Amino acid sequence: MNQTQDIIAMNKKYTYFSWMAQETANPIAVEKAKGIYFWDYEGKRYADFSSQLILTNIGHGDERVNNAIIEQMKQVHYVQPNLVTKVRGELGKALAEVTPGDLNKAFFTLGGAEAIENAMKMARMYTGKQKIITRYRSYHGGTFAAASAGGDPRRIPIEPGVGWIIHMHDPYSYRSPIYRHCSPEEGDMILCDLLEETIQLEGANTVAGVLLEGYSGSSGVIAPSTPAYWKRVREICDKYNVVLIADEVMSGFGRTGKWFGIDHYGVVPDIMTMAKGLTSGYLPLGAVSTNEKIAAYFEKNMLACGLTYNAHAVSCAAALATIKIYHEDKLIQNAADLGQKLKHKLQLMYEKHPSIGEVRGVGLHWCIELVKNRKTREEMSEWNKPMSKPMLELSSYLRSNGIAAFVRWNQVYICPPLCINEAQLDEALAIYSKAFEITDKYVLN
Ligand SMILES: Cc1ncc(COP(=O)(O)O)c(C=O)c1O
Repeated sequence: MNQTQDIIAMNKKYTYFSWMAQETANPIAVEKAKGIYFWDYEGKRYADFSSQLILTNIGHGDERVNNAIIEQMKQVHYVQPNLVTKVRGELGKALAEVTPGDLNKAFFTLGGAEAIENAMKMARMYTGKQKIITRYRSYHGGTFAAASAGGDPRRIPIEPGVGWIIHMHDPYSYRSPIYRHCSPEEGDMILCDLLEETIQLEGANTVAGVLLEGYSGSSGVIAPSTPAYWKRVREICDKYNVVLIADEVMSGFGRTGKWFGIDHYGVVPDIMTMAKGLTSGYLPLGAVSTNEKIAAYFEKNMLACGLTYNAHAVSCAAALATIKIYHEDKLIQNAADLGQKLKHKLQLMYEKHPSIGEVRGVGLHWCIELVKNRKTREEMSEWNKPMSKPMLELSSYLRSNGIAAFVRWNQVYICPPLCINEAQLDEALAIYSKAFEITDKYVLN
């Protein structure tokens, strides 16, 4: 066995892989990474077009973050959560500055699912109510209640899950039957009316929160057609004393060309969850930011949340350095500018490739749905089923040509680090285009 095979064999023998039957794992052994690229042990280069799990926003191997981590390690690596460090307070302040409205106080976790768990607990404590309404096509993490909250099929193995999650339908104008007989704008409003009806039917005195991804991520980058959707959701939450929680774990920190996905809609949630881009993956960290009203409530009432690694000093240092880089390198503006260009380039791709059914996204956050037939919209691979032959061929073409992309069912994602430039983007898009020639062959006329 060569070195690569040794590494893979040891990993497969002694460690588990997520969300799969273990024998199907087919990992790349990564030796090093820099900027938008990583390399395997044979020296093969991959462009990181999924930003790993949509988090390496500032790119790999940034010395500024590495140094901040080392400096913090030298000073103090950890204190228990009821002691404080300078960096924890500075990070809290930096988050208050970039989050919308009066989301001014943060509780730190180690990742996204923990942030969701604690956000739901806070909403329940604050309102004294129990139920949380979420969307079917969403993902909020793999822990028990977070997995129940996600509507994504990754929740199905733990069903019935927690009893206080209620799922509602998504603003998925391309496929949802709600949009079949009306315009996308009308469909959005019907969904809002249904949300209000759901709250009434469940009992307004039992609904604590509505939890939505600030901008939908791994469920297919499904966005409402106008900001009116979010404005109406905000009004409904206010009317029934329901806490609006925006999950920005994936869509936060510039991914969509704004600091947070919800910033596209001009709406301020009561609670926001963050992780991933908060540190760009240099170290694990998540956060739950709350508005002033909720913060005031917890001045007098116990915050029944706690984690050994709450506000880990070294993770906080990584986050603070990462946030500085978003500012210094103008990465969010880069995502917005390249996003405009990408939109145009993907439109051209749509015109060229009959297997492309719909292209959705903003900033550097895009999903392409592949279909066998544009009229019937029959998927190139069925939802929640093993990938079809055409999708497997497409996925293996991308990988063998040095593009590490997220491919799921009939969906292909384009989510590179925000430090990418246009030439790098074009180089990768030429390979994506060749890959779509494969699926084009499976189009039924
Ligand atoms: C929107 C969203 N929320 C929460 C999570 C869970 O984050 P983590 O995997 O860090 O627990 C994810 C992970 O992909 C996510 O996309």
